[in-house]
Amino acid sequence: MKDIHQNFLLEAHLLAKKQFGKTFPNPSVGCLIVKNGRIIAKSVTASAGRPHAEEIALKKIGNKSIGSTMYVTLEPCSHDSLNGSCADQIINSGIKKIIIAKIDPDKRTNGKSIKKFKKNKLITMVGKTSKETYKLNKFFFESLKSRTPFIKVKMASTSDQKIARKDYSSKWISNKASRNYAHKLRFESQAILTTSKTIIKDDPRFTIRKNNKIIRYMPVIIIDRFLNTPMNSKILKNISKRRVIIFTQVRNQKIIKLKKIGCEVFFIKLNSKKLFNLKEIMKKLFNLNINNILVEAGGILFTNLLSNNLVNEIHLFTSVKKFGAEGKPLLVKKSFKNLKLKLTFERNFGKDIYRYYSLGN
Ligand SMILES: NC(=O)c1ccc[n+]([C@@H]2O[C@H](COP(=O)([O-])OP(=O)(O)OC[C@H]3O[C@@H](n4cnc5c(N)ncnc54)[C@H](OP(=O)(O)O)[C@@H]3O)[C@@H](O)[C@H]2O)c1
Repeated sequence: MKDIHQNFLLEAHLLAKKQFGKTFPNPSVGCLIVKNGRIIAKSVTASAGRPHAEEIALKKIGNKSIGSTMYVTLEPCSHDSLNGSCADQIINSGIKKIIIAKIDPDKRTNGKSIKKFKKNKLITMVGKTSKETYKLNKFFFESLKSRTPFIKVKMASTSDQKIARKDYSSKWISNKASRNYAHKLRFESQAILTTSKTIIKDDPRFTIRKNNKIIRYMPVIIIDRFLNTPMNSKILKNISKRRVIIFTQVRNQKIIKLKKIGCEVFFIKLNSKKLFNLKEIMKKLFNLNINNILVEAGGILFTNLLSNNLVNEIHLFTSVKKFGAEGKPLLVKKSFKNLKLKLTFERNFGKDIYRYYSLGN
C-alpha cells in the first residue's frame, strides 16, 4: 500500500514529468511543501535548469515554510548558487522535515545535503520513489556515470533495413504519425548529432514543430572531417536561433566564415583509421554541458557509435516499404538482429512499427 509520503512524492514526480525536456543540462525535479496535511507550494525546476524547484517553492510561501515538510524528487544541491545552496535555503527556512526520492550523484552534492539536514536536526527520509526519478532523468544519472552524454539514436528504416534509397534520398520512409512522434523525441533531447553527409543529402531543418509552427530550433552537433557542411544549408541559415558545434580536422578559410556566423568549431585529430575518436568527441561535449543527445544521421555514424559502445537507446521506426539491395543500410557490416538489445517499448503508428530498445542497463 502506498503511504502518504509516497503519494506526495509521486505528485512531485508528476510535476517533474510535465517539465521534462526544458531543463537541460539539469534534471527535471519536482517539489511540494506540505503543512498540516495540505500542499502549500508546488514547483518544478525552471526552464534551462535554474532556479531549482526548492528555491522556487520556498520563495512562493516565505515564512509559511516554518514547521512544514518538503517533498523533493532529487537531493537538494549543496553547491553555491546565487542565493546560496538549496540545502542552506531549506535549513534557513524553518522546514522541519524533508522527504527526498533520490540522492544526487553529482559530486558537488552526493549525500552532502542529506548530512547537513541531519546535522541541523531536520527529519530526513531518502529513497521512496527513487525508481521514478531515475527513469525520468535517466540521461542525467547515466551521463554522470560515464562522463559522456546519454545517446539516443533515432532511425527510420524500411522492412529490409535500409535508411535511404540508392541515390541517398530518404524522405517519407516513415508515415506522418511516426514523424510526429519523432518530434517528441527531439523535445526530450538537448541537441541533435548529425554528419555533414546527412546535411548534404537531406538539408534538414532540425526544428521542433507543432501544428506547423516552429517551437524550438534544436542545437546541432556536426561531425565534419572535411568541413563540407554547405554554407547555405538550412541549419546555418537559422544559426542565430540555435547553437551549432562542428568537429573537424581541417583548418582553412571556411572556419573563419563559420565562426563569424556563430558556429563553434573544434579540431580533432584523426585516429589510425582516419576517423575521429568518437569517445573523445563525447567527452568534449559532456564538458560543454551537453548530456542528452539525439542522433539523426545515417547508418555509418550509427555503426561507429555502436562500435564505441556509446549508444544508450535506439528508437527505430520500421515501415512496410522496401528499398532493395542497393538501398543504404541501417548498419554497416553489422546485423541489427545480432545486437544485444532490450526491447523496452513497442507500438504501431498506422502500418509503421516503433520499437524502442535500451542498451546496457
Ligand atoms: N532514415 C533515417 O532515419 C535517416 C536519418 C538521417 C539520415 N538518413 C540518410 O542517411 C544517408 C546517409 O547515411 P550514411 O550512412 O551514408 O552516412 P552518415 O552516417 O550520415 O554519415 C557518414 C559520414 O559521417 C562521417 N563519420 C562517421 N563516423 C565518423 C568518425 N568516427 N569519424 C569521422 N567522421 C565520421 C564521415 O563523413 P566524411 O566522410 O564526410 O568525413 C562519414 O562518411 C542520407 O541519405 C540521409 O538522407 C536517413
